[in-house]
Formats: sequence, structure tokens, C-alpha cells
Amino acid sequence: MIPAPNYPYAFIDHIIISEEEIRQRVDTLGEQITNDYKDSDKLVLLGLLRGSVMFVTDLMRKVRRPLTMDFMSVSSYAGSTSSGFVRIDSDHKSNIHGWDVILIDDIVDTGYTINTVRKLLMDRNPRSLKTCALLDKVERHKVEIDIDYLGFSIPDYFVVGYGLDIDEKGRNLPYIASVNLERYQDLYGKS
Ligand code: PRP
Repeated sequence: MIPAPNYPYAFIDHIIISEEEIRQRVDTLGEQITNDYKDSDKLVLLGLLRGSVMFVTDLMRKVRRPLTMDFMSVSSYAGSTSSGFVRIDSDHKSNIHGWDVILIDDIVDTGYTINTVRKLLMDRNPRSLKTCALLDKVERHKVEIDIDYLGFSIPDYFVVGYGLDIDEKGRNLPYIASVNLERYQDLYGKS
């Protein structure tokens, strides 16, 4: 963990994954995907809004294959607790029938979101469907889930940055940082 003096948000505790560590891991994932899809000309990276935006846009630049990008918007959280209910707010635009789909999220917590969306997409008959997540909180899983392309496993910290938020704050941090929830509550009340 790297203590950093110039946090733009007063509720940040520590940087737990630095910009450089993210960059290196995204490079590696991009290489893997490039190799795994070398015979595909119908690859779509399908990100879940909004947390995955930074990850998708960095990752797609590291995949040296023809590809398209699409997004879905789903909701699964109220503040910092997971409800287990996943609502589709906005569906993807392209037809994925016969396409090689990589479903991308920023973080897997309980696993409800990626699991529910994966099942929904399977019914739309893609040629293949794999999952990709930047972060995985393994000890929080409530459903069995396999992530094909994983950035980092992390402990059960509340984290923000690189797309992840606490009540919409912190998404613009270029690294992953832990949140001091007591300080957050002093500043903003309960999240
Ligand atoms: C977060 C995160 C994942 C999901 C993970 O989304 O981006 O999609 O929760 O939780 P789960 O594994 O317990 O289902 P959120 O609803 O906070 O939306 P956001 O991406 O806009 O931040």
C-alpha cells in the first residue's frame, strides 16, 4: 500500500493498486485477448456502465484485433450494500448473435451482476461469451462465478478510482484506492 499526500478526496486511505500496476495488467490482458481471438473477426467488448468505462477504453487499445465496443447500463447497488437485485436500465445496441462477446465489468463483488447479465446474454446466442473484470472480491461472492480475464483479486476493502465510485465520487482517480468509511461519513453522512 502506498500512502499518498495529495489525495483529491479527503476520504481516501491508501492507494492499493497504482497507475503503473493497472497499466501493466491491462497490457497483459490485452495480449491474452489478442492471442485468444486471433481467428475472430467478430469480437465485441461489452462493458457495464458506468464503472467499467475507463477499463474498457484502456483495454480496447491493447487488443490488436478488429473489434467493436458496446455498453449496457445495469444497477445492482444502493450505496455500499449489494441488494442482489439487478435491473437492466439500458441494453446494448448491437446484435450479438454469432459474435464473440467479452462482457466487462470493473468489479465483481457478490457476483450477481456479472452472473445475471452473462445468463441474459447467453440467451441471445453469441458465438462465444467470456467474462472480464478489473477487480474481484472473492470473499464476497454469493454465487459461483468464473472470470476468464481478471485484473486483480482484492480483499474486502471499499475501493474507488479508475471508474469505481462511492456515491458517484472518486471515479476519476487514475489508481485504485481504499476508502476510509468513517471519514467519509464525517464528511458526507452515511453512504
Ligand atoms: C457495481 C460494479 C458492478 C457491480 C458489482 O455497479 O460496477 O457492476 O456493482 O456488484 P455485484 O458483484 O455484487 O453484483 P454499480 O451498480 O455500483 O454501478 P456503477 O458501475 O455505475 O458504479
